Amino acid sequence: MNVMSHPVTAAILKDKGLDIVLADGQPHYFNYYWLRDNCPSSFDSATRERSFDIFHLEAAPRAVSAELAGDALEIAWQDEAHVTRFPLAWLEAHAGAAPRPDPSDLPRKAWYGDHYPDVPRFDHATLLGDAGLRAKWIEAMLVEGFTIVTGMPDSDEALTRTANLIGQVRPTFFGDYFDVRTHIAPTNTAYTSAALELHTDTPAEEHAPGVQFLHCRANTVQGGGSLYSDGVAVANDFRKRDPEGFRLLSEIAVPFYCEHDTYDMRSRQTVIELDKHGEVSGLTISQHMLDIIDLPQDLLDDYYPAFCRFGKMLQEEKYMMRFLMKAGECMVFDNHRIVHGRAAYSATSGERYLRGCYTDRAEMRSTYRALVSEGRFRA
Ligand SMILES: [Fe+2]
Repeated sequence: MNVMSHPVTAAILKDKGLDIVLADGQPHYFNYYWLRDNCPSSFDSATRERSFDIFHLEAAPRAVSAELAGDALEIAWQDEAHVTRFPLAWLEAHAGAAPRPDPSDLPRKAWYGDHYPDVPRFDHATLLGDAGLRAKWIEAMLVEGFTIVTGMPDSDEALTRTANLIGQVRPTFFGDYFDVRTHIAPTNTAYTSAALELHTDTPAEEHAPGVQFLHCRANTVQGGGSLYSDGVAVANDFRKRDPEGFRLLSEIAVPFYCEHDTYDMRSRQTVIELDKHGEVSGLTISQHMLDIIDLPQDLLDDYYPAFCRFGKMLQEEKYMMRFLMKAGECMVFDNHRIVHGRAAYSATSGERYLRGCYTDRAEMRSTYRALVSEGRFRA
């Protein structure tokens, strides 16, 4: 082989793995267990799952030879009549111990109170028949966290069909769906006509649902304007304005609860949520479901003022997107990112009826990956 034109060299076998110089000219080490487990023959082409069971190997896998054969490395195994053939390009792609590239890992774009005219809108009927538009919709959800589906039929089924374009309807402890209208014996402030301060939903759940759908079926009351604001925009600004407050709110979990006759949900969450890159990915905030904070009282000397500074910032006009939801629209938003609330309304002035449900963020990302991966999805 001409080393100058092709720097890949035969592997050097070691005790627990092998060294090979790949196309980048650098030596790379691969562990034998990893190589044996990930042999291309380990995967079933129909299920795309690993069908090889490494637990059934009698002895630790060990190569007896590893030779270059064209653009592949062929490994023969000790104690096993099996040859593994790895394309070199595959080894190169996996040499860095880096996670698989994730098309759904998109940078978020913060938005502010003047955002309403620019909110991405998608027509319900068109979404149902157009996989490319569904990818654009979910992309907007991942990047901006708030979208409106328009042209919703006035039916329960329309909400289910819309949610199912992203994932399965994800029940919470109060059921698969919820109806927001004035109740005679309310168990929740949402079911009264009072103002509802900015919050994220079901913070008392260990894993609060990630995507919320609010289908506006009727809205003819006086008042009841909606408030939405981007928690990422506020928390990113808070990080700059008040780094110590940001640290407290992103590192220290506080208790949330939701309790009535037949349930007693409890969780601990940080008010500001960070993703694996350390970027703000969301909030958990709800004054009506914040439990009695059980932190040491001297820590509260710092925590409470920071919590209030952040809460006041959330209410700054700069962040507050105000509008009236119209019948036939479905608000779709990231429940961990977008805080929402409403102004008080007059319950006798007309009808106000919202029907809602949730799916999860992980399902949304899964659907997005499937939609944007070459050759994977059939519309
Ligand atoms: Fe809510």
